[in-house]
This record gives sequence, structure tokens and C-alpha cells, in this order.
Amino acid sequence: MAHLIIRGGNPLYGEISVSGSKNSAMPILTAAALSDEESIIDNVPRDTSVLTICLILRSLGAEVYMDDKGRIHVRGAGINNHSAPYDLVRRERGSFYTAGLLLGRLGCAEVPLPGGCAIGSRPVDFHIRGFQQLGAEVTIEHGYVKASAPQLRGTSIFINRSSVGTTINLMIAAAKAEGVTILENAAKEPEVVDLAIFLNSMGARVRGAGTDVIRIEGVKELYGTEYGIICDRIEAGTYLMCAAVAGGEVLLKDVVPEHLRSPILKLMEAGVEIKEDNSSILVRSQRKLKACDVETAPYPGFPTDLQQPFVALMSTAEGTSVIRETIFDRFRYVDELRRMGADIRVEHDTAIVRGVEQLSGAPVEATDLRAGAALVVAALGAVGETRILGLEILDRGYEGLSEKLHALGADVVREESPDSVSQKITFAALRLSKEVDQDG
Ligand code: EPU
Repeated sequence: MAHLIIRGGNPLYGEISVSGSKNSAMPILTAAALSDEESIIDNVPRDTSVLTICLILRSLGAEVYMDDKGRIHVRGAGINNHSAPYDLVRRERGSFYTAGLLLGRLGCAEVPLPGGCAIGSRPVDFHIRGFQQLGAEVTIEHGYVKASAPQLRGTSIFINRSSVGTTINLMIAAAKAEGVTILENAAKEPEVVDLAIFLNSMGARVRGAGTDVIRIEGVKELYGTEYGIICDRIEAGTYLMCAAVAGGEVLLKDVVPEHLRSPILKLMEAGVEIKEDNSSILVRSQRKLKACDVETAPYPGFPTDLQQPFVALMSTAEGTSVIRETIFDRFRYVDELRRMGADIRVEHDTAIVRGVEQLSGAPVEATDLRAGAALVVAALGAVGETRILGLEILDRGYEGLSEKLHALGADVVREESPDSVSQKITFAALRLSKEVDQDG
């Protein structure tokens, strides 16, 4: 496995740009393939998760390539394969959006139960129930979700629990369905809104995204468009915490501060100084943090994706923080923080974090993407060297992580391994040019 080696203790100074959102890029690239015409998507992060989606779309027959400005071109006219490949789908939860795409385009889909981060059971029952309500017949056979519907028909769907993935998948499937689909108890995350704006720029009729009722009036045709996706609020939040733990002064550019309202308030409560304008956030930290409590919640609440870095941050804050996770089973990484000297007790869905004077560097392993981010935060504030195993996992969601941290003055080294998955995928990515054959 590839490693990230961090020697903690350097304060961070300087400015960095936040990349495009991976959790927006995956659905938007997929939805782009609903049209026979070409769409050009800008501000796509060069994460391996996005590359995986591109390779899956290609395997279905879509034309997908990256131009020399880093924009991704997608054209769905060639889609003729309704079966998504297991070896790619298992890497990314977001690959399950191909079910909505294939149902909407071909009227049938065979998509393996998706993979993604190891953060507890991640069922797709809401997605399946939604497809059924749109008129699809769905079975699960040999690990594949098989769905078919000659014509999807709009209807009212109440989603049992606010679910980003279900809301997105059903929006994609319903964009060309016959009639009107109403999604009730829809997720309100910025990535859902981004997808709605994108779909509308293709000629779809989606209203209400950002509220908990979304109305999708199916259209016959969707057209090519050009679109720039939003910046990654979770990447931005992670760098806020890196600056908070290391101390110093960092300017994050190309962000939407409103998307981070809840984490920003919590950081201020912890004693971090934050100033913002329309598209940037300035963070100043003296490293003297106070404990504070957090409960994760769907947007606009505190994001589950920042729970892990926040626990790492609170590990050296003064006092005891109580952090409750309400979305996923996401505390396995705590053992790794303990190896660095953190004092954390987990009771059911709650971590009780007693701040210690100092963490010390240790060899640790990233068990999932945001757990990896937590280890980076911990390492930046620790004394000595931390070797984070499983850099490939971080590559799924943090474009140029070591370069960005290095630009801020952190002591960070990337150590590749010859057979690392990220290298293999990067190699495949190089072939994301128009000229090469389509087999990915
Ligand atoms: N759920 C079900 N059944 C379903 C779908 C969801 O029970 O069919 C449950 C989940 O188990 C969870 C809750 O509903 O308890 C909410 O899950 P949601 O569907 O919102 O999550 P997701 O779509 O699988 C996305 C992001 C996650 C992020 C969550 C919550 C992508 C590809 N993934 O996951 O991002 O944590 O929303 O905001 O967009 C990450 O980026 O590291 C990441 C894990």
C-alpha cells in the first residue's frame, strides 16, 4: 500500500484552492449520459472515485474523455450495455447511480450492489423501493440489482429517511419518466441542488431541490450542456480542521462558506478564528482549542463526513467532547487515533473524547476515506512522524492532498508502492483521452 508520511508540528500558512465536489461530480457525470448530446463538465476533481465513474460509464458504451483543460466530456448516445461491471462498481457507492441512468435510458439495468467506504451497512433498499414505485420490476440475484421498466412513470415517493443517494438516483431515473415525480422527505444537501441545476441546464424540469419536496416533470429529450460543479465542502472542511490543529493562518479559496455553516460555527466555538467572504474562508488558529460537542445530521446539520476529522481535532482540545454519529457506523478509526495517544471511549453511537496534551506520531491505517482525513488532522498536530497506510483510500476523495498540504508548509511525503491501486487507476486515467479505445 502507498503511505503518507507526516511529521507534525509545523504551523500552516498560505492559501489553497478547494477542488470540485466528488459527491457532485459522480451523479452529474452519470446524469450527463442521459443525453445523446455531449456535455462538458468543468471543475471535476481528479479523484480516483471520479475516474472510476468515468470508466464505468465507458464500459456501458458512453463516450467519456478528459480534455487538456481537465474538463470531462460525456456523451450517452452509445450506451448499449445495461450491465455495470462488478470490479469497478464495488469501489464506489456513487456507481449505483448508473441504475437510475440505465433505467432512464434503456429501461433495464443490472448493477452490482455497490461498494464504497467501510462505514457499516449501507443498504440500497430506499433506491429499490423508489424504482419500484416508478414502475420498475426489481430483483436481487447473485449480488446484482436487476431492474426493468419499459417506461418509468412519475408518482409520489416518500423516502423513509433523508438519503442523498436515493434522492439523486431517483432524480436521474425520473428526469425522462412519463409524468410528474414528487420526492418527499428528499435530501437537501448542496450536491442534490447541484444535480438539479445541472439537469435543468440539460432541459429537465426539476423544482424544489434544496427543500424536502422535489418535483420532477419528466421530459422526452435532454440536451448537451456545459456546467461547472460546486466546490467540495468536505474537502474544505477537512482543511479548516488541518489549519485548526496545526495552527497558523490559511486562506481557502473557491469555497461556498454557506455550505459549511455548521462546521464553521463548531470550529469557532472551539476557539478557531474564522472570517469569510463570498468565495473564501480565512482560518486562524493558535492551537489552543476548547472541547465542544457535536451531533451529525443531514444538511444543514453537521456533516457525518466531517465527524472523523472533528474527533481528531478534539483529541487535543481542552476538556471533554461528546460526539454523536447519527448517520453511519463510523467509529472504527478511533483505534488508530488511540495508537497516537488519543483518549476516546465509544459508547454505541457516541464518542467521548477527553483532550490530551499532545498526540504522538505512529504508524496507522486509513480504514475509510474520512477516517484517513482524521488521521491526517491528527498527524499534523502530533509530535513526531505518522505513517498513514492506505493512501489509495485518501486518493478517492482528496485531489492533490500532499501537494496542497506541502504548499501550506506541512512536512508531508507521499510514498508510492509499485502495485498500489491508485497508480493503476491513475494509469487508466491517462487513457481518458478521446483517441484511445473504449475498453478503459
Ligand atoms: N440508507 C438506507 N437505505 C438506503 C439508503 C440509505 O437505510 O437505501 C440509510 C444509510 O444507511 C444512512 C442514511 O440512510 O444511515 C443516509 O444515507 P445516504 O443515502 O444519505 O448516504 P449515501 O448516499 O450512501 C452519501 C455520500 C456519503 C455521505 C452521505 C451522507 C456519496 C457517494 N456518498 O452517501 O459520503 O456520508 O451521503 O451525507 O455521495 C464520503 O464522501 O466519504 C461519503 C461517505
